Amino acid sequence: PTEERIDFLMQQMTLEEKVGQMNQYNGFWEVTGPAPKGGNAELKYKHLRDGWVGSMLSVRGVKEVKAVQKIAVEETRLGIPLIIGFDVIHGYKTLSPIPLAEAASWDMEAIKKSAQVAADEASASGINWTFGPNVDISNDARWGRVMEGAGEDPYLGSKIAIARVTGFQGDTKADLQKVNTIAACAKHFAAYGFAESGRDYNTVDISNSKLYNTVLPPFKAATDAGVRTMMNSFNILNGVPATGNSFLQRDILKGKWKFDGFVVSDWASVREMIAHGFAKDGADATAKAVIAGSDMDMESHLYVEELVKLVKEGKVKEALVDDAVRRILRVKFELGLFDDPYKYCDEEREKATIGNKANNDAVLDMAKKSIVLLKNDKNLLPLKKSGQKIALIGALANDKNSPLGSWRIASDDNTAVSVLEGMQQYKDNQLTFEKGADLITEKATFTSELVFNTTDKSGFDAAKKVAADADVVVMVLGEHGFQSGEGRSRTNLDLPGVQQELLEEIYKVNPNIVLVLNNGRPLALPWAAEHIPAIVEAWHLGTQTGNAVAQVLYGDYNPSGKLPMSFPRNVGQVPIYYNNYNTGRPVNSDKNVFWSHYTDVEKTPLYPFGFGLSYTTFDYKNLELNKTAFGKGEPVVVSVDITNTGNYDGKEVVQLYIQDVVASLARPVKELKGFELVTLKKGETKTVKFTLTDKELGFFDNEGNYLLESGAFKIRIGGRSDKGLESGFELQ
Ligand code: IFM
Repeated sequence: PTEERIDFLMQQMTLEEKVGQMNQYNGFWEVTGPAPKGGNAELKYKHLRDGWVGSMLSVRGVKEVKAVQKIAVEETRLGIPLIIGFDVIHGYKTLSPIPLAEAASWDMEAIKKSAQVAADEASASGINWTFGPNVDISNDARWGRVMEGAGEDPYLGSKIAIARVTGFQGDTKADLQKVNTIAACAKHFAAYGFAESGRDYNTVDISNSKLYNTVLPPFKAATDAGVRTMMNSFNILNGVPATGNSFLQRDILKGKWKFDGFVVSDWASVREMIAHGFAKDGADATAKAVIAGSDMDMESHLYVEELVKLVKEGKVKEALVDDAVRRILRVKFELGLFDDPYKYCDEEREKATIGNKANNDAVLDMAKKSIVLLKNDKNLLPLKKSGQKIALIGALANDKNSPLGSWRIASDDNTAVSVLEGMQQYKDNQLTFEKGADLITEKATFTSELVFNTTDKSGFDAAKKVAADADVVVMVLGEHGFQSGEGRSRTNLDLPGVQQELLEEIYKVNPNIVLVLNNGRPLALPWAAEHIPAIVEAWHLGTQTGNAVAQVLYGDYNPSGKLPMSFPRNVGQVPIYYNNYNTGRPVNSDKNVFWSHYTDVEKTPLYPFGFGLSYTTFDYKNLELNKTAFGKGEPVVVSVDITNTGNYDGKEVVQLYIQDVVASLARPVKELKGFELVTLKKGETKTVKFTLTDKELGFFDNEGNYLLESGAFKIRIGGRSDKGLESGFELQ
């Protein structure tokens, strides 16, 4: 019936009305108040009334959404409702950890739940479409947008893509009709995570192998999970802007994968094809984007300006416009917007949902699961709950804004529980706070460059004094929440400002330090890794940050996170990733310099992908396969026993890696092909079983064909990517 309803509607639509559906405008003004003078708000209102707008982004709150929806529904000729998009990246108002942090949980249920909470709040606030999940794989910690993704691995990234898409949308298409689900958008299609030198918006020039085996799998997984929209990307891919890329959008996405939702451009990416040197003017950019399959224009204002004329001149076939409009209308019908355009506009529900206790509990749970214990010498952690003097140092410890992280447009400033507030709840210790030094000197916003304190060390002495007097020093250091995200690339991966100096100064007076890191990307901290006895990776954990960190530090929660991205020793190692190729000279066999290495630092990362400790310990034994030789199509069953050998109940992410030893194209030294999060009581042993099928054992050739080749495979199972029990089998 949906297709029939679309047919019926489209028969009545003029070309102008069809093009209007393909136009998306940003809001960000008080639609219930007067239009701001200047800018183009008045023009946008006019276009809304004329039926030339199919979607708006960043309008939020029931009152505002209702107002724009009313114009579309009640004042335009056909009354087609708007689809309202918003960057719900890690929560709406109640914030979850940044997506990279969530990925560190390796907990698909928790990640799905987090997306559900985000959808619940966003939909209660009038929104029905999120520009997420970001499924961009990246190996480059310099790129600020790694905070939005799931890290460096396509297998983990694909599982997380599925969890997030189904969390936002529900498990079936029918779930989209519910009031608390929203359409998802896998982005950025494609290869945005491979911007050269980690600089945002930069050139992408990658091999077909990288494209098919690394970049595309999470998008395919999202498609198979029913994602209703995709966003293309700002970058060129091997010379062709993604927005004007037929190969990506028509051949692969809508052709091979049969994606029947719609593609929205990224902000002004249609127009940016002129700057790329790919289109000569707005008309050319429009034609190229539409022909290539970009269905909706976000804020280039070009489709409304150019497309009708282009169709009339025969430069763009009307059938392509029809195809785009059909896709957009389909998603609107699936969301139930035609049946009730105001279904997300219930003020009572908005009040009851935003920031409620259940949502706060859920993001706290997610935050605890996202924390990774990187080092814990002499079991400095967990902290004793009483009788200790604790010095808490670092401006970030008392910051209620930074932990919210980047991409949190709907949340209010200073609404995170700070680490100081979290730790103050453990009242039987003596806690003293000193910031030591400011991190930034001007107010941080989502759109401005940050200004760091690089000179003022006047607080060092006070911090040293409390540190010298303490049993344990907890230092919260790292990046500001707005230091990652869009447009936030770095060439250094160190502690910004005077924080490294502060750390070293405090260490001189009391080396008993627990370093709690706040960051939106892997950092390179070799000095800390060598000297500081305990390091806790706490990312930017969102609204409940302080509670999550305190519960982990005090052992009320035993951390189980594992890194979803390799942490380098220094920035010169980047890009560094676990699933690299062997090279022809992987080892130092001749004891001379001619092997693949650096002369000044080891080639291994500081902390590898998949790494993370617990307060307890785990022992792996009895790696077994059901056979040693298999025919194609036969399941390879791998099992291993894992025992909790320490003093705490805990959870472990059991990871399975394979290596296709010899293939028609060289394959990585290891590839993650299975994982399971296992809960084990003290002393308990469990057997974990994995089944490898054709889906895990093959790879894509340079034409995008999936190959399953016979030969030897190695298997490795463990709690990290660089160590584990090994075995192997033959595929015949
Ligand atoms: O969704 C985002 C995208 O990821 C980057 N550019 C702007 C869009 C809308 O805010």
